[in-house]
Amino acid sequence: MDHFSFQQGVLHCEEVDVPSLADRFGTPLFIYSKRTFIEHYDRLHAAFADLNPWLCYSIKSCSNLSICRLLADRGAAFDVVSGGELARAMEAGADPGRIVFAGVGKTDEEIRAALAVDIGWFNVESEAEMANLASIASEMGKTARAAVRVNPDVDPQTHVYTTTGKRETKFGIDLERAKSVFAEFANKPGIAPVGIHVHIGSPVNTIDPYVQAITKTLGLIDELATAGHRVTAINIGGGFGAHYDGGEAPTARAYAERIVPLLAGRELTVLLEPGRCIAANAGVLVARVLYTKASGDRRFLIVDAAMTELLRPALYGSYHFAWPVVPFNGMVPPRRSADVCLDGSVRVDVVGPVCESADFLAKDRMLPPVARGDLICLFSAGAYGFSMSSQYNSRPRPPEILVEGETVRLIRRRETYDDLVSAERL
Ligand code: LLP
Repeated sequence: MDHFSFQQGVLHCEEVDVPSLADRFGTPLFIYSKRTFIEHYDRLHAAFADLNPWLCYSIKSCSNLSICRLLADRGAAFDVVSGGELARAMEAGADPGRIVFAGVGKTDEEIRAALAVDIGWFNVESEAEMANLASIASEMGKTARAAVRVNPDVDPQTHVYTTTGKRETKFGIDLERAKSVFAEFANKPGIAPVGIHVHIGSPVNTIDPYVQAITKTLGLIDELATAGHRVTAINIGGGFGAHYDGGEAPTARAYAERIVPLLAGRELTVLLEPGRCIAANAGVLVARVLYTKASGDRRFLIVDAAMTELLRPALYGSYHFAWPVVPFNGMVPPRRSADVCLDGSVRVDVVGPVCESADFLAKDRMLPPVARGDLICLFSAGAYGFSMSSQYNSRPRPPEILVEGETVRLIRRRETYDDLVSAERL
């Protein structure tokens, strides 16, 4: 699952003990394990090898340049959703021909920047965007390769805020209208609609929704072929799960066992856009306890990390396993789960300093006794942790550290008060 483990009662990232990192870099602090990143990427690569797919790392999940570089060096392609992510991918050394650009609201400036470097594909989300892309590409004397994003109306059975494959969401074009899009744009200058993109949501911890969405999409591809439109690529999006609560996500192999047979022998280039399943378990957020406090029958651990560093609990009610970095009496849980209850543990809420009641990181958890100054680790924070962080309450963002074996590298420095205001000193 990852390379964070308790050794002699102390949490380690690979071979490095976490308290030494907290002392050296301060808290709050994001720590990533390079081995975990690589293993997750390699497992996916091996599981889907029969399709020889493009694994387009979804930058939004964890966008640090060093992480992007690490995956580019491993052979990853990239999924970007903004001009900023495109700039990151380019700076990380991505092959532009293996970048795909998704998102319902690409600006003209972003489209031009992507065309200028000849990216691989645009995942196009509406007829209006198709027309705009065709016109900008024509002006630039280029032909944009487009994958029409379809909305298959499939329920991914995940949080409503991260559901994208149902008809009522803003994403994609419904299957019926997709046919007319191909008819309309097949021979228009500036655009080549030769792919189909489908991303149903995230995290999707069951495989049936993928099977339904891909089956519907392949049906569309067959109908398009009958109408004379040859689709050469299918992008099945991202959304594979990660382990937040122990073992809830299917393995890469389990996803592949059901998905590969649907696509094998189809003469389609296959693209995947994984983010979370590579990054989530590869990172943790470490915080220090500032105060402990009781209020009525509730006990709070007030820590120096907040919703500004890890928004997921506040935004989606997401579960992140929390545990002291050096647990009292060596109390180490058998698995990382909400239902762990060791003798002597105390029920607490782990909360941050931000002035919002939504500012909690873990609620109603049985933890070993903890005192002011102790360190708490929030696990599985590698995906949508730092990348969704903010400076709300004028809190400088924390540093990011990459560990490989015994080697420690600062990959983003802690922001300063000067960083908070430098863009405002005009
Ligand atoms: N492709 C598209 C078109 C996407 O919209 C996304 C994620 C991905 C790929 C990558 O999905 P992944 O493999 O990482 O699940 N902030 C939320 C997740 C939002 C996902 C947005 N789109 C969270 O913290 O759970």
